[in-house]
Amino acid sequence: MAQYDVIVIGAGPGGYVAAIRCAQLGLKTACVEGRDTLGGTCLNVGCIPSKALLHASHMLHEAEHNFAAMGLKGKSPSVDWKQMLSYKDDVIGQNTKGIEFLFKKNKIDWLKGWGSIPEAGRVKVGDDIHEAKNIIVATGSEAASLPGVDVDEKVVVTSTGALELGKIPKTMVVIGAGVIGLEMGSVYSRLGAEVTVVEFLDAITPGMDAEIQKTFQRTLKKQGLKFVMGAAVQKAETTKSKAKVHYKLRKDDSEHVLDADVVLLATGRKPYTDGLGLESLGVEISKRGQIQTDDHWQTNVKGIYAIGDAIDGPMLAHKAEDEGMACAEVLAGKHGHVNYGIIPGVIYTHPEVANVGATEQDLKEAGRAYKVGKFPFMGNARAKANFAGDGFVKLLADKETDRILGCHIIGPGAGELIHEVCVAMEFGASAQDLALTCHAHPTYSEAVREAALACGDGAIHA
Ligand code: FAD
Ligand code: NAI
Repeated sequence: MAQYDVIVIGAGPGGYVAAIRCAQLGLKTACVEGRDTLGGTCLNVGCIPSKALLHASHMLHEAEHNFAAMGLKGKSPSVDWKQMLSYKDDVIGQNTKGIEFLFKKNKIDWLKGWGSIPEAGRVKVGDDIHEAKNIIVATGSEAASLPGVDVDEKVVVTSTGALELGKIPKTMVVIGAGVIGLEMGSVYSRLGAEVTVVEFLDAITPGMDAEIQKTFQRTLKKQGLKFVMGAAVQKAETTKSKAKVHYKLRKDDSEHVLDADVVLLATGRKPYTDGLGLESLGVEISKRGQIQTDDHWQTNVKGIYAIGDAIDGPMLAHKAEDEGMACAEVLAGKHGHVNYGIIPGVIYTHPEVANVGATEQDLKEAGRAYKVGKFPFMGNARAKANFAGDGFVKLLADKETDRILGCHIIGPGAGELIHEVCVAMEFGASAQDLALTCHAHPTYSEAVREAALACGDGAIHA
């Protein structure tokens, strides 16, 4: 029987990062993974493959829409779908092999197979039992189902099927205007599909700043995506290669049908804990399937910890990674900490959308006095030069103290720009701190500085 200080179950961004940090801190570590490759949802069927397809399809969009105006004339590239998929698979391979290398480098044993926990301190993989002082459950999540919509991963797909369709569909119905629906919807729209997004609520991307939601939807509409808002999907009927999506409009109960070559079900994800044996161990699980933990990621059963998508909080790779590192530090006797108030969110459409901290809605609900500094990318020289003038930066700061409370960006490089604000917030900075920091010209980041200036005596270029 092999003996470890820590066994991590699941090698996604939560699990593999936890394992690496445990090993770095001197703990004898193993990681159980049932897939053929490491990296979890994120590297295999999530963040990385979707970003590869977003990148390739964005290049096509640029060639079709902006090249000629810059004096780059000639035929637009045609799409070799097989090659695009193989580029995406190559990117996945490079990343998953990278984690395998890191496991070897850090002397982490990869226990191949599906793990279960017969009792605290023991992990079963196949017929083998391994002992561990502590166990970290990092088993991630899976797509949530919707009654009446049966997924076959060919005509009715989740994001996993959408990452490897046999061909580019002529028509696609996306159920759910959340992150997956809008990212994958953008990919297929850019590749020529007619994409209709059917959303239950009246606004896209729930929880996001309302002004961003409106601008984002308007921008996506301009790019060709169609939206049916306030619509409850009743069912999806499929023939061999087509589907009919039935929905009811909430405002008047009228019933409608949409035809599609492919239907993407993107109505959220739920924790995946099947087969672990948590119920018989008495591990507390919420009604929504999330493993319950304390502030140090320990469940109610001593020695069993949980992190990432399997627990509460935003289902994001970097949140899982941060928990993985912090949990490892706790197990090594250090003070692992995650600042849940400063976890950025990014949507990798074009333009990108990024946010951190409070929205205006949050601040209003909390009755907090705040000020808004806003700056449009149209006033940013670099953005104008790059045909990227759509969007804005909106910085929220405390009215009295000027402390930064949140930031919401729609525009070029938003996913990179947001981190300047994250660092500022971690240091408890004021909007003036950002405004007084010299920013190189011409960069998109000047738009963040201008938004900070707008919280004070005013932006220069607006
Ligand atoms: P996972 O990555 O889900 O990994 C869990 C692993 O555990 C899996 O490999 C699974 O096989 C394994 N496992 C499960 N049960 C067992 C068992 N019993 N024994 C052994 N192994 C087991 N997040 C972002 O931050 N940015 C993005 O751009 C982004 N894009 C996404 C795009 C898509 C299409 C999807 C679906 C998700 C995306 N996400 C993104 C979310 C991100 O993938 C997840 O938040 C992240 O992967 C969660 O990490 P995790 O380690 O908790 O779980
Ligand atoms: P989501 O929670 O982001 O969006 C789901 C959407 O579906 C919501 O707008 C919701 O109102 C809608 N919906 C729910 N039921 C519906 C119904 N019956 N009919 C119509 N609409 C309905 O979930 P999504 O997009 O599936 O993503 C899952 C998770 O993956 C997210 O939590 C996200 O954090 C993560 N992810 C993150 C990415 C990123 O960081 N860039 C990219 C992709 C996924």
